[in-house]
Amino acid sequence: MTMRTHACGEVSEKDIGSQVSLAGWTNKWRDHGGVVFIDLRDRSGIVQVVFSPEVDPEIHRAAHKIRNEFVIRVEGEVRERPEGTVNPSIPTGMVEVVAQKLEVLNESRALPFMVDDETDASESLRYRHRYLDLRRPVIQRNMIIRHRAARAFRQYLDDCGFVEIETPVLTKSTPEGARDYLVPSRTNPGHFFALPQSPQIFKQILMVSGLERYYQIVKCFRDEDLRADRQPEFTQVDLEMSFVNREDVMTVVEDMIKKVFADTLCAELKEPFHRLSYRDAMDRYGCDKPDLRFGLELKDVSDVVKDSSFKVFLETLSSGGIIKGLNARGLAGYSRKDLDDLTQEVQGYGAKGMAWMKVKRAIESPIAKFFPEETRKALVERFEAADGDLLLFVADKKDVANDCLARLRNEMGRRLGLVRDDVYAFSWITDFPLFEWNDDEKRYEAMHHPFTAPMDEDLDTFLSVETSGLPNVRTSELSSVRAQAYDIVLNGYEIGGGSIRIHKKEVQDRMFQLLNMSPEDANEKFGFLLEALEYGAPPHGGIALGLDRLVMIMAGASSIRDVIAFPKTQKAVCPLSNAPSTVDAKQLKELSIRLDIVE
Ligand code: AMO
Ligand code: AMP
Repeated sequence: MTMRTHACGEVSEKDIGSQVSLAGWTNKWRDHGGVVFIDLRDRSGIVQVVFSPEVDPEIHRAAHKIRNEFVIRVEGEVRERPEGTVNPSIPTGMVEVVAQKLEVLNESRALPFMVDDETDASESLRYRHRYLDLRRPVIQRNMIIRHRAARAFRQYLDDCGFVEIETPVLTKSTPEGARDYLVPSRTNPGHFFALPQSPQIFKQILMVSGLERYYQIVKCFRDEDLRADRQPEFTQVDLEMSFVNREDVMTVVEDMIKKVFADTLCAELKEPFHRLSYRDAMDRYGCDKPDLRFGLELKDVSDVVKDSSFKVFLETLSSGGIIKGLNARGLAGYSRKDLDDLTQEVQGYGAKGMAWMKVKRAIESPIAKFFPEETRKALVERFEAADGDLLLFVADKKDVANDCLARLRNEMGRRLGLVRDDVYAFSWITDFPLFEWNDDEKRYEAMHHPFTAPMDEDLDTFLSVETSGLPNVRTSELSSVRAQAYDIVLNGYEIGGGSIRIHKKEVQDRMFQLLNMSPEDANEKFGFLLEALEYGAPPHGGIALGLDRLVMIMAGASSIRDVIAFPKTQKAVCPLSNAPSTVDAKQLKELSIRLDIVE
């Protein structure tokens, strides 16, 4: 007989009476009144195997020595489970295999944690034994969803004439806004490669080279603070196209995502993706990656509350801040403690405080007395509030109020049960500002990256803004220049971003000038792209999707670590391999490096 005739999860009623041979891991072992039952598991699922002394006393004895995660091979006959022992919770629950032969292929040490979908093992223990963690069916399922999604991306892009091209990993810094991972060069002492934060410059050069449509499923490296949706190395579905405008890129991406969801999850996304300008997104949701599975829109009430006598609000207004809020529908039943706890949470987001009003027959709030009847009415109207609603307010500088309320909105969406895992709310965010003011350093930065083209309508302003005093001065003209950029957002996560690029050298030079980069500096960093732009660069644009984030949402996981085979922890270490680690003195010497570690 071959090593195995069936996969465990595929043994079914139609096999009743046949001989099968199975191999896999011992998922669970139990002895019931002299009969040993083993749940045998392989990638496809689980089937129950019975070892009875009446069938063969010897293998029954041998079965007693099996422990969890032993690798075994079994030959036997499939039979219907006796009445009362059917297990409807697994697909093979109608049948079992009566073992006639047992082979122990390998033993296992006692386990540090159980191989089970539910686990309370710590992350560091799970990652240290990631090979066991990866045996958990839920993680295996995630790996398979990831594989299917990647395959669907490749198929779609191949059908559309995209060419998959690899770009260097040992390269020069690319400006995506994070710190670089550096690799010392042995042959050029004192020189370093940077690992790419993205293939941005190379893909643009491929357009100059006339490849016209490029894609790559590619690792990117960014040394930044980690979160549930951020890893130091992550994967992009990266693409670039020549002779396109924004609409062309967005159409391809929208079509592609629909195909990926259909092929991977059998989910049909019928609606065209929602579109929001950056301005609208900030005004209505307080952030540029709103979760659009629910409403709970924010309202600016600065104009209304100026007629109150509430000092906190008036002082905020007079110092240039805003008062904004949301209507947590139906939550007027919140107790004082609920509200105190919520206030504390919002303070944790960075707000100085949170004010609230319960909408009952009258407004109930410790601050109600500061609001004249007309103002109260206007507030109720602004929030379209009804009896039983709860209004929540934050007064602060605009960006602080927006940020805190965006997070509060997500929290209230969860509490109100408006966040469903099986709803996919996609949205394009467009018309981003080209520049972002860095108040600490008193200079403009590129909101996306410095190769993003300004909107045609704003090009004149971009080219003609008076630059004396710039870039250390914030000007309303420069702040108003919009970019031909687009982000794609799904359920509150930024899953991709891209733009039409600058393809003219003069425009690119001007961009660096406005970013306070001298021509020498620009040349030193990006000279290879700048020069390429002088040799007939076609108009071009593209996008990169964060594959890990997309798959995380598709798999219903709560962290991208659950869809990455070998992830790093919050501290950017790999407990499995123990990377990063110290190196031999000899290796350092070869690299001409002497360590002087500064604490
Ligand atoms: P951007 O920097 O927006 O664009 O990156 C594209 C997408 O990659 C994902 N992403 C990450 N995922 C996990 N961990 C991280 N640390 C991480 N950082 C980013 C996000 C993001 O939307 N070169 C441009 C693309 C272009 O202009 O074509 C770029 O890299 O989902
Ligand atoms: P205080 O004057 O600090 O006692 O605050 C009075 C009320 O105003 C309390 O309900 C506070 O939570 C609320 N409050 C204080 N600061 C803010 C703020 N920045 N935004 C909204 N409400 C605030």
